[in-house]
Amino acid sequence: MDGFEFNKIAGAVLSAMLVMTAGSTALDIALSRHGHEKPGWELPVTEAKHTPAGQAEPAFNAAAILSLLPKANADAGADTFKKCMACHTPNKGDRNLVGPNLWGIVGRKVATAPGFAYSEAMKSHGGEWSWDRLAKYLHKPADEVPGNKMLFPGVADNTDLADLLAYLRKLSDNPAALPK
Ligand code: HEC
Repeated sequence: MDGFEFNKIAGAVLSAMLVMTAGSTALDIALSRHGHEKPGWELPVTEAKHTPAGQAEPAFNAAAILSLLPKANADAGADTFKKCMACHTPNKGDRNLVGPNLWGIVGRKVATAPGFAYSEAMKSHGGEWSWDRLAKYLHKPADEVPGNKMLFPGVADNTDLADLLAYLRKLSDNPAALPK
């Protein structure tokens, strides 16, 4: 290529670079100006749009979880149950760990795994693990049975919780009927 050709190419490359630099500079200016243009008083207004503290979470609705059960995925639930296995065994006749064995837990009487030392809080919870009570307890153990000794924060996601319940249902020779 001759000198003239080279100059033409070099010129083209140079002007392309100039355009790019100018472009990004213009963008920088636009962006930073945008930031500066926001008046200070707009901030508190934006903040106020957030839910005030204490009202952040909508009330937990066990019925909504239970309505997901017919289509829940027990295999995905088995995956979530891996978190529980730090403290619980799932199978018939398995030993208690930090927490009681969970075979037949759906519909089982509360605090009745043989040989497990339950807290007073759990013993006085009484009754059976109905679908409803199980959903509430596994959503937030500390709220549902205050003072119980299961150190687990709960399953926050509705679908995960429904899947987990579908898995727990299978831990039985005679799985409980799905809730109506
Ligand atoms: C850090 C250990 C730990 C983890 C993790 C844990 N648990 Fe527990 N769980 C316990 C203990 C301890 C108790 C007994 C609570 C008491 O007596 O107050 C318990 C009790 C329970 C009970 C009541 C059992 C009964 O016989 O009445 C259920 C149901 C239960 N856990 C389910 C689960 C599930 C499902 C998971 C996983 C999503 C889970 N737990 C995760 C320790 C744990």
